[in-house]
Amino acid sequence: MFDLVLHQPQIPPNTGNIIRLCANSGANLHLIEPLGFRLDEKSCRRAGLDYNELAKVKSWPDFDKYKHQKKSGKIWLVTKYGESCYSENAYQLGDSFVFGAEQHGLPPHIMASVPPEHRLALPMRSGQRSLNLSNAVAVILYEAWRQQDFIGSARRP
Ligand SMILES: C[S@@+](CC[C@H](N)C(=O)[O-])C[C@H]1O[C@@H](n2cnc3c(N)ncnc32)[C@H](O)[C@@H]1O
Repeated sequence: MFDLVLHQPQIPPNTGNIIRLCANSGANLHLIEPLGFRLDEKSCRRAGLDYNELAKVKSWPDFDKYKHQKKSGKIWLVTKYGESCYSENAYQLGDSFVFGAEQHGLPPHIMASVPPEHRLALPMRSGQRSLNLSNAVAVILYEAWRQQDFIGSARRP
């Protein structure tokens, strides 16, 4: 399936929404530390996160560690500064989509780690700051999954 990578997520409900999205779609979730919340059972319960689902999520000390273990598939960065419209690319199973932190987005060294055509933007009206992280993740994942004819879904309407 696809890899969703959240760089230093800060807000537990956003990660909670994305965990549910992964459960529904089969995508893998990777969290790049430091996180804005703790992953132990008690902290998860307090933050409203599903600890059992969270157990399937992988955490990495930094982005390079995640990147180096990745054996195949492209890495796409998802950023409002992207040069490429998300709906104009072809995605393959095994590709990774990397999202920035709620407050700071993606840092310069990650932005510079891929060619410009691998930086994806979701169109917005002028004067708007950004989309909510979990909304941005959902749009990207469903476009990528749509391109694979929703492989693995229980049924197609
Ligand atoms: C709340 S936004 C971060 C905003 C941050 N101030 C910035 O400058 O990027 C959190 C993440 O959602 C994704 N995102 C939000 N709006 C987006 C857009 N229009 N295009 C692509 N990604 C977007 C990006 O991954 C972003 O890093």
